[in-house]
Amino acid sequence: MSNWDVIIIGAGAAGLHCAAHAAQRGKSVLVLDHAKQAGKKILISGGGRCNFTNMYAGPENFLSSNPHFCKSALSRYTQWDFIGLVAEYGIAYHEKTLGQLFCDDSAKDIVRMLMSECDRHGAKVQLRTEVVSVDYDSNYRIETSRGDYSCDKLVIACGGLSMPKLGATPLGYQIAEQFGHSIVPVRAGLVPFTLQDDEKARFAELSGVAVPISAEAHDGYFREAMLFTHRGVSGPAILQVSSYWQPGEAVTINMLPDLDAFEWLKTQQQQQPKTQLNTVLQQHFPKRVVTALAEHHQWPLNNKLADTSNAQFQAIADNLNRWQLKPNGTEGYRTAEVTLGGVNVDEVSSKTMESQKQPGLYFIGEVLDVTGWLGGFNFQWAWSSGFACGSEV
Ligand code: FDA
Repeated sequence: MSNWDVIIIGAGAAGLHCAAHAAQRGKSVLVLDHAKQAGKKILISGGGRCNFTNMYAGPENFLSSNPHFCKSALSRYTQWDFIGLVAEYGIAYHEKTLGQLFCDDSAKDIVRMLMSECDRHGAKVQLRTEVVSVDYDSNYRIETSRGDYSCDKLVIACGGLSMPKLGATPLGYQIAEQFGHSIVPVRAGLVPFTLQDDEKARFAELSGVAVPISAEAHDGYFREAMLFTHRGVSGPAILQVSSYWQPGEAVTINMLPDLDAFEWLKTQQQQQPKTQLNTVLQQHFPKRVVTALAEHHQWPLNNKLADTSNAQFQAIADNLNRWQLKPNGTEGYRTAEVTLGGVNVDEVSSKTMESQKQPGLYFIGEVLDVTGWLGGFNFQWAWSSGFACGSEV
């Protein structure tokens, strides 16, 4: 059996970053992963350009049952630390929008950089290795498809459940439970909504059309684009709000977030009483969006504004400013970017990521109940939690 100071299960963002930092401190480090390739999610992220961090990342951009948990790690390894590493490797990048930093060229640059860091400090990354079992008896023993390994410190970095076709499994949660941890219930986050059949059919013809909106559910409020799809709605505003939404609830959509729609319609009525409602609404939306919304909400589109009552204007304004859109569900883990919930952070040290139930066991990255917004925040959590653990393990 080969013995290591540290074994990390998961050669993703958090695992590779942690491995390099632990090895830099002179620890012997082995990273095990069942995939054929390291950092698969990094490679497909950001449309192949990896939104690797966000210039404005802070604790307020994360969801967790304990919102204070992420603060220490995020402050000890910030977005600027990771940007510094990217710059050291000469990787060109740009801000796309809202502080989101993407590689100019390819996400492969980020994986190459992480692998080089592991290499430089002597951490070994072993792929195509299935973990069969993990046991503890004065040290950790990991039985795998390629032999047995032992270590003093075991780091769980196997991520969440989103995108099973990229190798996501529940192993991290299973190991946590084996050692007495509780799991905050998991569900898909940053995920498109599906609609009921009648709404789906009505809006499917708008598939591919994006409109600027605001979307709100519980504490989540986002002003970005909504995209109509064949199955329902997506786009950044919807993905963001999906992490705050609970099944069975409605999401409040404001189709005119800069306007009081009632006041605007009344002003139009005064200024152009003979104009049809249809024409006026097209000042703000493409014609087919107006048609679909009117069918859905039963607006009297052919009415002249002069012939439209205040009650009708109020109903239309409510539909525009406070549309209660009730999703049927989400597209689930198949397309979700992240998994909400995970290993209960109240049972883990926020400084070192070590289990408070089982000495020498650590959890980092998405397997923990810390989930970032869309926009580079999830990778920043992987870097920050990976560093916190790698500096202590
Ligand atoms: P990660 O999932 O990266 O790594 C886990 C590793 O564990 C994998 O290599 C997996 O193979 C391995 N593993 C799992 N089960 C195992 C088992 N049973 N045995 C052995 N190994 C096992 N975030 C962001 O900030 N910016 C972005 O642009 C994007 N874009 C994006 C696009 C898409 C399509 C997805 C699905 C996700 C994103 N994300 C993102 C989210 C981001 O990818 C995610 O939060 C991080 O990769 C999480 O890092 P971890 O290291 O925790 O898990």
